[in-house]
Amino acid sequence: MPPTPRDLPWRRTRDPYRILVSEIMLQQTQVDRVIPKYEAFLAAFPTLAALAAAPTAEVIRHWAGLGYNRRAVNLQRTARTVLAEHGGVFPQAPEELRALPGIGPYTAGAVACFAFERDVAFMDTNIRRVLRRALVGPEDAEPTSSERELLELGALFVPKGQGWAWNQAIMELGALICTSAMPACGRCPLRETCSAYASWRAQEPQTIMFDESYRPAIRPARRAAEKREESYAGSKRFYRGRIVDALRALPGGACLALADLGPLLKPDFGPDDAPWLRDLADGLARDGLLVLEEDTVRLP
Ligand code: ADE
Ligand code: SF4
Repeated sequence: MPPTPRDLPWRRTRDPYRILVSEIMLQQTQVDRVIPKYEAFLAAFPTLAALAAAPTAEVIRHWAGLGYNRRAVNLQRTARTVLAEHGGVFPQAPEELRALPGIGPYTAGAVACFAFERDVAFMDTNIRRVLRRALVGPEDAEPTSSERELLELGALFVPKGQGWAWNQAIMELGALICTSAMPACGRCPLRETCSAYASWRAQEPQTIMFDESYRPAIRPARRAAEKREESYAGSKRFYRGRIVDALRALPGGACLALADLGPLLKPDFGPDDAPWLRDLADGLARDGLLVLEEDTVRLP
C-alpha cells in the first residue's frame, strides 16, 4: 500500500497568503525544517497586511534558520505589491500572479492551484521527476524532453475540478515514493502505466519478484543538494549568510562598522579583505537585505 499522505499545515488552508509563505519556504528548504518556521512566521505575521507593514528587519529576523534570506525580502515585496496594487486581494490567475515581484512560474501555478483550486499544471523538482518517469521514461534514457514539453504533457492529465488533489498527490509521490535515488515502484499506484517502470523491468530479466518491495537498480546522478553543500563553506552565499546572521544578532536598530564585521566573518580578516567585504555588503544592500551607510551596515 502507498503510505498515507502527510498532514501538512499548508494543506489545511486555502488562504493565498499562507500558501504563498509555505511555497516560498519550501522552495529551498526541507519540509521538516519548514513546518516549525512556517508556524512561527505566521504567528508573527498572521496576515498579508501584517507582513506588509512590518519593518523589513523583523521579517529577516524571522527568516533565521531557513537560509536564502533574499526570499524573506522578496516575500515582503510581494505582500506590499498585493496591498498597494490589488487592494490586498490576491489575483487568482497564474499569469497575474506571475506579474508579482519574486513570483516565478512554479510559485504562480502553486498558489493558483493550492489556494484557488485552479486546475493548472506547474513543476518543481518532485513533480518534474514523477512526470518525466511516468510519461516519458527513466531520466537517463531517450527521448529527452524539454521543460515546456513535459509541462504541456503534464497539463493534459490534470483532472477537471481536481487540480488541487492531483498536484498535491504528484508532489507526494515524488517526495515519498518516486524519489530520486530509490523509487519504490513496487508500492507506487502509477506503476501499471509508468514508462520508467516498464523499461526498468525490461532491463532486469533476472528479477523474479516484482512485488511491493521492488525497487529498480538505478544509479542516479549525484543529488543537487549534495553538490550544493560541498561547495557551500567559503562560498559567496556562505559569507552573505554569515553577514546577515551577524546583523540579526545585534539589538534592534543597531549598526556595525565594516571593520568590526570583518573579523566576525574571518578570524584572520585584514586590510586586504576590505574590498571583498564591501563588495559583499554592496550585493546584500542591492538585494534589500541590509543598509550600507558610511562604513557601517544594519538590517533594513
Ligand atoms: N513542496 C512545495 N509545495 C508542497 C506541498 N504543497 N506539499 C509538500 N511539499 C511541497
Ligand atoms: Fe516513479 Fe516507479 Fe511510480 Fe513510475 S512506478 S512513477 S518510476 S515510483
